[in-house]
Amino acid sequence: MELMELLKTRRTYRRFDQTKKIPDEAVDDIVRAQQYASCGNNRQPLHYIVVRDEVLVEEIFKITKWAASLPAKQGQPKDGEHPTMFIAVLEDNALKNAVTGVDAGLAISNMTLAAWNHGVGSCIIANVNKDELRKILDIGDEYTVNCVVAFGYPTHKSIIKEADSGEKLSYYINEDGDYVVPRKKIEDTVVFR
Ligand SMILES: Cc1cc2nc3c(=O)[nH]c(=O)nc-3n(C[C@H](O)[C@H](O)[C@H](O)COP(=O)(O)O)c2cc1C
Repeated sequence: MELMELLKTRRTYRRFDQTKKIPDEAVDDIVRAQQYASCGNNRQPLHYIVVRDEVLVEEIFKITKWAASLPAKQGQPKDGEHPTMFIAVLEDNALKNAVTGVDAGLAISNMTLAAWNHGVGSCIIANVNKDELRKILDIGDEYTVNCVVAFGYPTHKSIIKEADSGEKLSYYINEDGDYVVPRKKIEDTVVFR
């Protein structure tokens, strides 16, 4: 896919075809993509746990909250719509510093773009019960949990819509069941000097 089209369509997806597993080639690219991301001082404080085991994926799904802007009935994926893979993003406490959050954002961006290049949609999830995640994945105290990222083949579209200044920015689901994501116009966010 052409780069700008890839960037525009790599949105948050929240309903997936649970029967369609992500092939190894796509997973290989996703994990390789984080290795290519820049990070402050090249410290590489991030670690990842790739979860593809169906039982573990379901356990993690149960401790995640989706689409806080929508009623749960609409935003939470239903049975058959769950993601088929999670990646837990962890920060090594011995290496993390003030810019580790930026490092995580760049790495997650690379991974979700690499996924989308294979048609695999994703949802970054900060709203995960981190204590429960530690138990499920046996994560030691040497790591801080940053977030989890859910992956799967989406069964809906997600469309960017330019918002007029003052317009509500909450995403919503349209009559076709697709997500609509209002975005501020360039002239409302960027100044050229
Ligand atoms: C740091 C971060 C945390 C997020 N956490 C959640 C979350 O816990 N649950 C969820 O459903 N979506 C979550 N999202 C997805 C956002 O709601 C989504 O990015 C936003 O609505 C814009 O949609 P877009 O990604 O399609 O541009 C998160 C996104 C980011 C960047």
